[in-house]
Amino acid sequence: MTAEPEYVHGHHASVLRSHKSRTIANSAAYVEERLRPGMRVLDVGCGPGNLTAEIAGRVAPGEVIGIDASETVVDEAARDHGDVASFALGDVDALDFDDDRFDLVHAHQVLQHLDRPVDALREMRRVTTPGGIVAARDADYGAMAWAPGNDGMDRWMELYQRMTAGLDHDANAGRHLLGWTQAAGFTDITVTSSTWEFADPDSRAWWSGVWADRVLQSSYGDIAVRDGLATRAELDDIAAAWRDWADRPDGFFLCPHVEIIAVA
Ligand SMILES: C[S@@+](CC[C@H](N)C(=O)[O-])C[C@H]1O[C@@H](n2cnc3c(N)ncnc32)[C@H](O)[C@@H]1O
Repeated sequence: MTAEPEYVHGHHASVLRSHKSRTIANSAAYVEERLRPGMRVLDVGCGPGNLTAEIAGRVAPGEVIGIDASETVVDEAARDHGDVASFALGDVDALDFDDDRFDLVHAHQVLQHLDRPVDALREMRRVTTPGGIVAARDADYGAMAWAPGNDGMDRWMELYQRMTAGLDHDANAGRHLLGWTQAAGFTDITVTSSTWEFADPDSRAWWSGVWADRVLQSSYGDIAVRDGLATRAELDDIAAAWRDWADRPDGFFLCPHVEIIAVA
């Protein structure tokens, strides 16, 4: 792989706290019934590997490989989950695998971070055996909703949309998944959707804490400042707005996701 592609969130601990909370139940239920013992699975953009490892448990004694464009996160995945899956540095745009190599190629929250998601889906299809499955799930930031209204959170979203657009990434990927998958040449496609909700004190505190920290400490804040979209003082205000929202007993946040299962 040449240069690491720019990933808007980076892999600060505040980001990994969120990625490490992902399970089949909260993030891959749409594909769960397709998992069978003995399957060969590739998890592209595997991040810290928590989902990859859980999938490996379901398909044992199959083979599961996670790849990610970030060396640091791949090393962490290998350290934490190398007993159940293999992890390697790799780019979904140019997968280092033969054609027809896997029964399932999975991508969770990855296509939204690519400038050529249709090409990535074609590449995922290339390494999937005929009749095998390409499965992808992406959030749709533009469809996220929260109450009560909060200017700081509105600004958080505006900044996120602007910084992802600046990277040629689509933060509203969820709504485009069907079209992208069709454009990649698939014809047998099942589309579903699912949500994360934050509507009680514990989940509000967790979700707002993750975002307040990410705004201040992760690449989100660094890119916003670097690209002249916000000052550090504004980021402080956005983080405070997240925490204010969490303190509201009527605080509600809806995070919608779209999922596709496409037969290769
Ligand atoms: C939102 S994280 C998702 C991680 C994991 N799938 C999960 O859901 O917890 C997106 C991941 O995609 C990786 N990524 C971004 N561009 C990539 C590329 N071109 N090839 C492979 N991985 C990439 C990032 O490094 C990051 O770890």
